[in-house]
Amino acid sequence: MPGHLNLSYVLCLAVLISSALADVGAYYGSNEYEKGELGEWPQQTYHSSRIIGPVVDFLQHSDRCDDGLYTMLSLRGSKVPSPGPMILDGKGNLVWTAEGYVQPYALAKYTYKGNDYLTFWVGNDEIGHGEGMYYMLDSSYEEAFKVSAANGLRGDLHEFHITRDETAVITIYEIIQANLTSMYGPEEGWIWDGLFQELDIETGEALFQWRASEHFEFTEGYVARVGSGESEDRPWDFFHINSVDKDSKGNFLISTRYMSCLAYIDGKTGEIIWKLGGKKNMFKDLSGGAATNISWQHHARWVDNETAITLFDNASRGPADPEHISRGLYLDVDQEKMTVKVRHEYWNPHNISSQSQGSLQLLDSGNVLIGYGANPAWTEFSVDGEVLCDVHFGPQFNFDTGEVLSYRALKHSWVGFPKTDPEIALQGNTTYVSWNGATEVVTWVLEGADSSGADDEEYLTIDSRPKEGFETEIPIPPDNVHRFIRISGQDANRDILGSTLTLEWDPSHNITTSSLDIQATNNKWLMFFSTAFSTTIFLVIAWWASMRLLDHFRRQKKRKQRLLRGDLQDLAADEELSEDEIGHSVEFSLLQNADIHYDIRPLDELR
Ligand SMILES: *[C@@H]1O[C@H](CO)[C@@H](O)[C@H](O)[C@H]1NC(C)=O
Ligand SMILES: *[C@@H]1O[C@H](CO)[C@@H](O)[C@H](O)[C@H]1NC(C)=O
Ligand SMILES: *[C@@H]1O[C@H](CO)[C@@H](O)[C@H](O)[C@H]1NC(C)=O
Ligand SMILES: *[C@@H]1O[C@H](CO)[C@@H](O)[C@H](O)[C@H]1NC(C)=O
Ligand SMILES: *[C@@H]1O[C@H](CO)[C@@H](O)[C@H](O)[C@H]1NC(C)=O
Ligand SMILES: *[C@@H]1O[C@H](CO)[C@@H](O)[C@H](O)[C@H]1NC(C)=O
Ligand SMILES: *[C@@H]1O[C@H](CO)[C@@H](O)[C@H](O)[C@H]1NC(C)=O
Repeated sequence: MPGHLNLSYVLCLAVLISSALADVGAYYGSNEYEKGELGEWPQQTYHSSRIIGPVVDFLQHSDRCDDGLYTMLSLRGSKVPSPGPMILDGKGNLVWTAEGYVQPYALAKYTYKGNDYLTFWVGNDEIGHGEGMYYMLDSSYEEAFKVSAANGLRGDLHEFHITRDETAVITIYEIIQANLTSMYGPEEGWIWDGLFQELDIETGEALFQWRASEHFEFTEGYVARVGSGESEDRPWDFFHINSVDKDSKGNFLISTRYMSCLAYIDGKTGEIIWKLGGKKNMFKDLSGGAATNISWQHHARWVDNETAITLFDNASRGPADPEHISRGLYLDVDQEKMTVKVRHEYWNPHNISSQSQGSLQLLDSGNVLIGYGANPAWTEFSVDGEVLCDVHFGPQFNFDTGEVLSYRALKHSWVGFPKTDPEIALQGNTTYVSWNGATEVVTWVLEGADSSGADDEEYLTIDSRPKEGFETEIPIPPDNVHRFIRISGQDANRDILGSTLTLEWDPSHNITTSSLDIQATNNKWLMFFSTAFSTTIFLVIAWWASMRLLDHFRRQKKRKQRLLRGDLQDLAADEELSEDEIGHSVEFSLLQNADIHYDIRPLDELR
């Protein structure tokens, strides 16, 4: 049931919303956008919601990207005031975001035991990798599972992948002691070891754990040790594990950034079966080096029934050599002949060079989606490398600054039924409606009634509009006669999924109000009442306790007087005195003026 309000209430509460943009929609090849003239993070506000939404710029757009899937980002960066997991529709409009998940990484959708979940990592990412937890939200955006690393370790941000066996694989960084003489370091040096675990999602138990330092030589890496490894507070990050996949044979495919290679790991023994790329590459490169010269790569995944691997290659090697252009790779891998060949490469039309992060996803449509990690961009290619859609969610002007970014950019289907109600705002004769995360609303129906307490069946349809973008605007038609209005969301079957609060509309006043203000005010009242209630309860308890205490002292005093008088029969009759006390009192009355702190002796002894 929606709430109801009368006009005086609304008038009393009406708070002017600071001038808010309507759903502005995406830009298409905007110079202003790319130069940063629309802000370092172009954003928009809404009338009916406090959420801040993104604004994207399509540098290129094709209908061939319209597969009905949503784009999933883990938005963060120094210019993003409200970082969070975020879902956008095919036009770049906000569908869902949530505050309070800071910092988010690797938002994706997985099907686990028949249900779909939004999955992501949240935690402290200040050390270049992370220490945090993995979340699985169900279709109503409730936390269904919260997964931690096992064996007392801390889960890292780089990977949370649900395997075909309905287990989760995660990455972990752990500081341990290591003999660094091979790197001209101390015998008792310190490293960030790279681990991964396979976890039982329900029990959190580790089913498998693997540790890089037991299988890789330190000399296989490309990252200098200088300045690290000497002490526990400056461990050497020699490996930097950043993705884990599990195949049908039960083996694992991992990616290590600082060894610039992929490794295929036996799921029973942990032994390395092969390495692709890096200093100890074991594959014959049928593409003259282009398949194995991967560097700082991310997101390696088996595809095509484990005959091919896709990955995001070359996040360059840091600010010193930014000229290297990142590419997506689709590699044919023949594990019998130990050959590898580039099937396709994917080059961004603006030659983006991402120094970190990034993703490559082979979509069901056959297209390939690349997320540029450290840079706020994603590009969708045809499988053979033609650029179809090229999208920025931050201006090119600020690329390579870390001001706006998303660890991965992925596309997935999603169906969300939020537990909240849709939100409404009224400004003069215009209403606005939005519902964070409600994917199934197709039509918004403006409904009117003649009293604030009307039942659902008493509401009549005034007008309706197809849901567009995050927020939909519906003008109140001039011939409307109903004073009380609300908006209901209908799905494709015309079933009502939810209704807003009811507002009173007065055509003679240009008032502005929204369910936000009402909720805020309701919350204020709620807070007032709950404070008043708890204060009352407190006072009652305090009064009761002090009465008890007073009573207690009064009785003590009375007892003392009776004891002094030796008035034992009265006391015993009142059952206020134990046998012991009677004994002591007898003793006491014998001793006459002695102190009240008598020693303790059984009554029998005295008798
Ligand atoms: C450390 O490694 C070096 C070189 O491999 C070896 O000579 C030395 O004995 C090792 N030290 C320890 C304490 O194991
Ligand atoms: C690596 O592959 C890329 C893409 O084909 C190519 O441009 C580059 O020259 C290669 N580098 C080496 C060292 O083979
Ligand atoms: C996948 O590969 C395995 C082993 O090579 C084969 O038995 C199976 O039929 C393949 N599946 C498909 C769908 O191609
Ligand atoms: C990636 O970076 C490495 C070293 O920075 C470079 O040698 C290689 O050619 C780059 N690869 C591509 C595909 O640009
Ligand atoms: C991207 O790089 C290619 C090859 O290095 C070059 O031909 C092209 O002009 C560059 N494009 C842009 C937009 O800089
Ligand atoms: C709203 O519409 C009514 C007529 O339906 C009109 O009289 C009134 O001026 C309008 N109010 C505003 C604020 O535009
Ligand atoms: C109604 O108020 C809004 C802002 O509060 C203002 O922008 C708009 O022009 C007003 N409309 C009329 C008809 O006064």
